Amino acid sequence: MKQTMLAVTRETYGGPDVMCLSRVDRPIPKADQVLVEVEATSVNPFDWHQLTGRPWLVRLPALFKPSVRILGADIAGTVVAVGDQIQDFKPGEAVFGDINFGAFAQFAIAQPHMLARRPDGVTVEDAGVVGIAGLTALQAVRDWGRVQAGEKVLINGASGGVGAYAVQIAIAFGAEVTGVCSAANTALVRRLGADRVIDYKSTDFATEQVRYDVVIDLVANRGPRAIGRILADNGRWVLVALNIPRFLVSSLFGRWLLGGSNKTTTFKIAEIRQDDLATLARMLAEGQIRSVIDRSFSLEDVPKAMSYLATKRAKGKVAIRLE
Ligand SMILES: NC(=O)c1ccc[n+]([C@@H]2O[C@H](COP(=O)([O-])OP(=O)(O)OC[C@H]3O[C@@H](n4cnc5c(N)ncnc54)[C@H](OP(=O)(O)O)[C@@H]3O)[C@@H](O)[C@H]2O)c1
Repeated sequence: MKQTMLAVTRETYGGPDVMCLSRVDRPIPKADQVLVEVEATSVNPFDWHQLTGRPWLVRLPALFKPSVRILGADIAGTVVAVGDQIQDFKPGEAVFGDINFGAFAQFAIAQPHMLARRPDGVTVEDAGVVGIAGLTALQAVRDWGRVQAGEKVLINGASGGVGAYAVQIAIAFGAEVTGVCSAANTALVRRLGADRVIDYKSTDFATEQVRYDVVIDLVANRGPRAIGRILADNGRWVLVALNIPRFLVSSLFGRWLLGGSNKTTTFKIAEIRQDDLATLARMLAEGQIRSVIDRSFSLEDVPKAMSYLATKRAKGKVAIRLE
């Protein structure tokens, strides 16, 4: 007899109200897959784009009816079964990662490179929210921004899911960090270790006299001319926020608009890499970074968690905790 599980499913593109708790078949891992019992996950703007089908680019694989019924990328839980080809994981191991889809359920299928072991001392909730946001922050600081010790780094959107990790990772890399957020979150960003915090309602960071080596931009509310003014020679503007018009203008005319041939713009999509997940696990275990969890919801309340994320006011991560 087929085993079943609870999952939050959707049949159409739309808002959180198209999601509902359903009983569905429990997935069976193929030879190269791992089956994980989900204990924690979180909501990300990635899930929101997949849910709503906006921007339209995300609908390319399925224009009118989504091909994926169960969303949820971040995951932490326990391996319950592995396919014949899997050598790296075995049942009973505590794992976490980013599986793109399927984590808003009691059980989820993962490709092994999307998982890493959860060390003792890292809670399931802390590991369950780190996936997309942690990978993005690590790759933005280390790979796209090439942040070096002693450099001045500005993080626009420092109190959100990606920003809270980016502040801590940039500090771990030895940078001098300025975070931009609202007054309500300045204390949080300071506690994360930022050297300076700018409240965007009272100060426009783009009119500052300071010159930054790297701007990690999770909001993309300023254009290349404004960013160019605050970038030092060889400065790097790392556009992380998904803003297609801004990305197109910046990639076509960025060098000219930034006001210096040695200033650059980068926009990349974070990659799921097992060694980066392992780096995040080590940083969490050693206390170099911590997960900031604003609110926790149950599986049934994933639609409420998505609605909260959509307010763009979350402080750090919005977690989903399964029984
Ligand atoms: N390129 C990639 O691979 C990739 C990967 C992940 C995410 N992203 C993108 O990165 C962006 C951030 O993601 P996230 O998960 O961090 O989102 P999030 O958690 O929803 O961000 C919420 C935070 O944004 C802050 N914020 C809102 N308006 C702001 C403003 N005008 N200035 C400064 N901060 C502001 C809020 O702080 P206040 O309440 O203090 O305003 C809040 O703490 C999204 O656009 C997402 O799509 C891209």
